[in-house]
Amino acid sequence: MLKQELEDGQLGLADPNFRRDVLNGLAASPRAIPARWFYDRRGSELFEAITDLPEYYPTRTETALLRQTGPELGALAARGAAVVEFGSGSSTKTPILLRAIDPAAYVPIDISGDFLRQSADELSQAFPGLPVYPVEADFLRPVPLPPQVKDMPKLGFFPGSTIGNMNAWHAVDLLRAMRTWLGEGARLLIGMDRVKSPDILIPAYDDEHGVTAEFNLNLLERINRELGGTIPLDAFRHRAIWNADAARIEMHLEAVRDVRFQVDGRPFSMSAGETIHTENSHKYGPNGARQLLRAGGWTPIKEWSDPQDWFGLILCEAQPIRMAP
Ligand code: AVJ
Repeated sequence: MLKQELEDGQLGLADPNFRRDVLNGLAASPRAIPARWFYDRRGSELFEAITDLPEYYPTRTETALLRQTGPELGALAARGAAVVEFGSGSSTKTPILLRAIDPAAYVPIDISGDFLRQSADELSQAFPGLPVYPVEADFLRPVPLPPQVKDMPKLGFFPGSTIGNMNAWHAVDLLRAMRTWLGEGARLLIGMDRVKSPDILIPAYDDEHGVTAEFNLNLLERINRELGGTIPLDAFRHRAIWNADAARIEMHLEAVRDVRFQVDGRPFSMSAGETIHTENSHKYGPNGARQLLRAGGWTPIKEWSDPQDWFGLILCEAQPIRMAP
């Protein structure tokens, strides 16, 4: 038995926010559960496996971009900066950035405590002189920055196109919150996946080996384990669709037959073909990306993309607080 399972499930200590989101989401129409609940221990491992898939181009593309732009970033970065990473746990990208800009401190923020501590330990070993101050928090709520980095210039790092999980409204809220936490004079380096052909996009979210399917279905396993669910996993299948109007990939769990189950003692029933919407992954053109960032209080100052224009890496500056002309 994993320690995480004991902590989260077997003793009835499930996160009340998880319970609330699942019970409300299953009762809603259309049914939907926020994507952030994918990332229990197993979910985080499965996501790492996704990033190695041949079909899943974002991680590879962004990592190569970071490698290429490292020297330029190093020249642009403020001396003695604190790098604040939102949603840490990227074992490959972070060292590339840290090596390039040689910061005075590193602050990884993640919702998954286990994963956070593990990656913070690994980084401390790889960068023995670098103070690492991990913060276990959900960065959709106000994050207290450690006092040690208060007076350092801040560089926010938000890779992986995680911003794509949010609709524009929530993305702007988050960007504005980051602007407030990081403060005047801060910078933000953000990765945003680009709009491209569904022939590339769909397989990236519906891979041949079914790893993404397992990642999606793991949410049901987590519900069963942590919230006393009785969902029969074989009654659901993974679906990934391109919603062209909203410029996003959607992941759903589709009932393959009529099904009844309970979660936390509450009964639910779904008809064959009905889905639970589990994730949005919004894609942006270069203009859309810049507009979103400006709306969130950040001015793009430099950007890079790969030769195929599949992924964008954008460096922004916090908009100063002053009156518009
Ligand atoms: C971590 C949100 C960037 O949307 O591409 C990967 C998550 N979901 N495959 C993405 C994900 C299915 C990923 N993000």
